[in-house]
Amino acid sequence: MCGIVGYVGRRPGQPIILSGLRRLEYRGYDSAGLAMVEPDRLAVVRAVGNLDSLFAAADGLDSSSCTGLGHTRWATHGRPSEENAHPHQDCGGRISIVVNGIVENYKSLREELVGRGHVFTSETDAEVVVHLIEEHMGDGLAAAVRETVARLDGHYAFCATSVDEPGLIVGTRHEAPLVVGVGDGEMFLASAIPAFLCHTKRMVVLEDDDVAVVRADGVTVTDVAGGPVDRPAQEVPWDDDAAEKGGYETFMLKEIYEQPTAIADTLAGRLDDDGGVDLSDVGLSDDLLRRLRRIYIVACGTSYHAGLVASYALERLARVPVQIEVASEFRYRDPVLDAETLVIAITQSGETLDTLVAMRLSRAAGAPVLALTNIMGSQATRDADAVLFTRAGLEIGVAATKTHTAQVAALLLFTLHLAEVRGAAPTDELIRVGRALRNVPQDVQAYLDNHRGLDEIAERYHDRRFFLYLGRHTGFGVCLEGALKLKEISYIPTEAYAAGEMKHGPIALLDEGSPVVVVATDGPVYPKLVSNIEEVRARKADVIAVASEDNTAIDELATAVLHVPRCDPWLAPIVAVVPLQLLAYRIARLTGCDVDQPRNLAKTVTVE
Ligand code: F6R
Repeated sequence: MCGIVGYVGRRPGQPIILSGLRRLEYRGYDSAGLAMVEPDRLAVVRAVGNLDSLFAAADGLDSSSCTGLGHTRWATHGRPSEENAHPHQDCGGRISIVVNGIVENYKSLREELVGRGHVFTSETDAEVVVHLIEEHMGDGLAAAVRETVARLDGHYAFCATSVDEPGLIVGTRHEAPLVVGVGDGEMFLASAIPAFLCHTKRMVVLEDDDVAVVRADGVTVTDVAGGPVDRPAQEVPWDDDAAEKGGYETFMLKEIYEQPTAIADTLAGRLDDDGGVDLSDVGLSDDLLRRLRRIYIVACGTSYHAGLVASYALERLARVPVQIEVASEFRYRDPVLDAETLVIAITQSGETLDTLVAMRLSRAAGAPVLALTNIMGSQATRDADAVLFTRAGLEIGVAATKTHTAQVAALLLFTLHLAEVRGAAPTDELIRVGRALRNVPQDVQAYLDNHRGLDEIAERYHDRRFFLYLGRHTGFGVCLEGALKLKEISYIPTEAYAAGEMKHGPIALLDEGSPVVVVATDGPVYPKLVSNIEEVRARKADVIAVASEDNTAIDELATAVLHVPRCDPWLAPIVAVVPLQLLAYRIARLTGCDVDQPRNLAKTVTVE
């Protein structure tokens, strides 16, 4: 949510900032703006709606300035409007700022500033920042930013620039992302790396309350008191083409097809040919793992589904009680936590506010926290005791796909490691699962290479007004994920249920021809699931089953079958979710939806 782009260098900044904003579109926004520092004035344009409106408005600006700020805004305080769009200016029109996040104490600050004669032009919480800076400009922009930070509560990142100090941008962050891209004679500031990835692969990751003083020839970082801090530049681990569609019609389709690589990269160096696991990069001691008496998994959305899928293996193989909860509920239930309860927080972006708060709350209660994330340097990596990285690469499609399967693979790795350390499962069983896990990228690839029948099923059912999804055991999380994918990118209502619960209510929804998607890969409860399929068919509803390739018996039972490669039941969820991603994708395309940026959704949810 909200995207910041700043540029200071030797080239005209306007096209660079606009293309950076384009690359941050996936974060979600409803208005956008640009401010360029001209000699003795700011040139500002803002527009409501998508970036095309801003591009059109910026045409008239035609600035050749080499310093400027851009912003995409996802409205929280104040409706989407031109006045509320960033950048915001001070009363004198000489300072400009862009803010991501929320200033919690903005009401009292605004009253105070109005009392001293400041004139506000927006309803936003963010505007207080620029008026505070204006008040402290006596010792220059960097000092004014430091003074301002000391007055703010909340979680935010912002950048400021001033016509009185051309060629300078000052940026800071507090529990919201801001990275500095280090170019050759030019520098970038951004909420996320893709904004500058086509210009440089070197970056400085800022820590909370760092103040970065950025000029074309370099960055100096201090703390809020002005004391120097050392933030060495590091190499971005993604390819330059990660933010491009690479010949695919959408990012989502590209990312679905990148899953074999995402999973293989996540396993690389951590799983040997004999199924042995090495998770020494994670930083959790064997001693702690042996002492654990309970595991809590907290996450949101698709990451929650990954946790749910893996929780069965975790409990069964490592013999630790596992509780799983959506982060937005966990944080308010006053959970019982202690030093022997491991909290696993799953967040691909590492920025989801509810998950971050759940992590902080857990640590404050003395529980060790393991973050499972895809983003180096993200807030989750700072708020955790240990980090398990997925290596799925940059995911731009708003609907998560490759990060989900990489999360499940990483959680299964952790399960094998934990089970081994605790001596909780027979070694030969762990080796069998470990070896099978090594083959999962090939299994997923095999399905992507041959998903016969899928397009016909999408064509046949794409105009239905409701889909029911059913699954049991590890297939339950898969059906929840399949249902979420379809509803979020096609806007078709879906319901996902543990198949055994169907007769306690949802069965009333079924009618002749109602599409019911059933995750029916092999597993301990497969025979029970067959009975559920019979119950659906008895109501004349249609069953679209996902089943193992050599399960031909199900062809007689279901209306249509999506056959996937047979693999170990613990790993089947990774393969079984792929046809559900593709089915949702095809249906959404047939109904003309924008799959990469579904309405109302943001890739990173940084508000409660
Ligand atoms: C759905 C989706 C979301 C995210 C959720 C959590 O396709 O992507 O449900 O899974 O917003 O995001 P992270 O994993 O970044 O915490």
